[in-house]
Amino acid sequence: MSNRTLPKDFFFGAAMSGPQTEGAYQATGKLPNLWDLASDLDITKFHNRVGSYAGNDFTHRRDEDIAIFRDLGLTSVRTSFQWSRLMDADGRLNPEGARYYHELLAAFRAAGIDLFVNLYHFDMPAYLFRRGGWENREVVEAYANFARTAFAEFGQEVTHWFTFNEPIVEPQQRYTNAVWYPYHADFAQARRVQYGITLAHGLATQAFRQLQAAGTVRSDARIGLINCFTPPYTREDPSEADLEAVRVVDGIDNRWWLDLVTKGELPADILADLEHGGYDLGVRPGDAQIIAQGPVDWLGFNYYHPARVQAPSRTTDEHGNPVFAEEYVWPGAVMNESRGWEIYPKGIYDFAMTMHDDYPDLEWFVSENGIGIEGEAAGKVDGVIQDDYRIDFVRDHLNWVSKAIEDGARCRGYHYWAVIDNWSWNNAFKNRYGFVEVDLEHDYARHYKKSADWLRRVTTTHEIFQS
Ligand code: FCB
Repeated sequence: MSNRTLPKDFFFGAAMSGPQTEGAYQATGKLPNLWDLASDLDITKFHNRVGSYAGNDFTHRRDEDIAIFRDLGLTSVRTSFQWSRLMDADGRLNPEGARYYHELLAAFRAAGIDLFVNLYHFDMPAYLFRRGGWENREVVEAYANFARTAFAEFGQEVTHWFTFNEPIVEPQQRYTNAVWYPYHADFAQARRVQYGITLAHGLATQAFRQLQAAGTVRSDARIGLINCFTPPYTREDPSEADLEAVRVVDGIDNRWWLDLVTKGELPADILADLEHGGYDLGVRPGDAQIIAQGPVDWLGFNYYHPARVQAPSRTTDEHGNPVFAEEYVWPGAVMNESRGWEIYPKGIYDFAMTMHDDYPDLEWFVSENGIGIEGEAAGKVDGVIQDDYRIDFVRDHLNWVSKAIEDGARCRGYHYWAVIDNWSWNNAFKNRYGFVEVDLEHDYARHYKKSADWLRRVTTTHEIFQS
């Protein structure tokens, strides 16, 4: 059988973020962000006690990394501007931070790589978190001011903007699973945070449109939102209660954002459920107009694993929080044991077909996809990590992307998460995602893994090779 291919204009790139790569955490007048705060407060919460401070040393190796991206045939890269670097503590532009990002954009431009800019990757400035974070309207306004400032400052340079990466993840990881600072499981708080982020997105999108109409933002620039719209599956022969679990999980995690970015609304069934449960989102007059600003020009889809849910066996958990669903362990699941995530390449196709059927006009791209493995460096041959599993993983996902495009999906490109290994929140450097190793024992030196050569062949030919 011949290899599948991807369209000529399909783009390949890398996804990364400011807080996970930049380091230089006190340079350019950068303020502490939430990860610096969490690292300061309790470093034992981070794998091998590696906190946020150094990222993967990108700032010092910027030109080397850009040369790697180029050598691997990548034509775009997404990172984020850190709010804590670009803005000062009075909410004004920090000129040193602005210079940092102008230089970054110039360096990518010189290499012929399009830098996509995301404005928030779980990295609120610590002082704003102390003021109540997303639950405080002043913080929502501060984000809108940051976004407006960024659009004004870089409006002629950036063509692909995103308001948020995975807006559902802070509600989940901080306030539901409680594995990220402040390690506090509280369903009501999770939903208020989700609502605050929703408003922040609406205000930022509004600012973008206004500045574009005024000519401050270039006319060919686009704004989008990136989320892990993980498709929820249930048993093959579901009960009513299983389907109800799917409705709620899909509603809170996916439809909430999809309705926001396509219709400028939030799903009525979920709002009704929350009201019925006595959860107060703190809605104010005028909010509907902000939410109505939500529609975007295109979407990013981060896909690592599917969600499988079933009817819960209890209605509240040990924290007193409501339980709407519990995990369904599919007997056919293939697992990435390092991360505890199921590997299910067809999920990318199922999402593509949902988009095709329900939101046919919206373009999108795979904005993150990747596999993080622990202890890879142990199996080196002649100093090279033998990561055939990474080739298998990406090949299988790309094959489904190719089929989806054949079946009409408006998927324009693929960004691999962490082409170069980087720091992953509380897991720090535990699981490595890269096609390029970062050697922590030798001053963050970069080394190609076996898979890098395969990636280069795919990006330069658009043919999805078996191995
Ligand atoms: C995603 C995040 C990204 C990275 C990967 C592994 O959820 O967007 O920052 O940590 O997981």
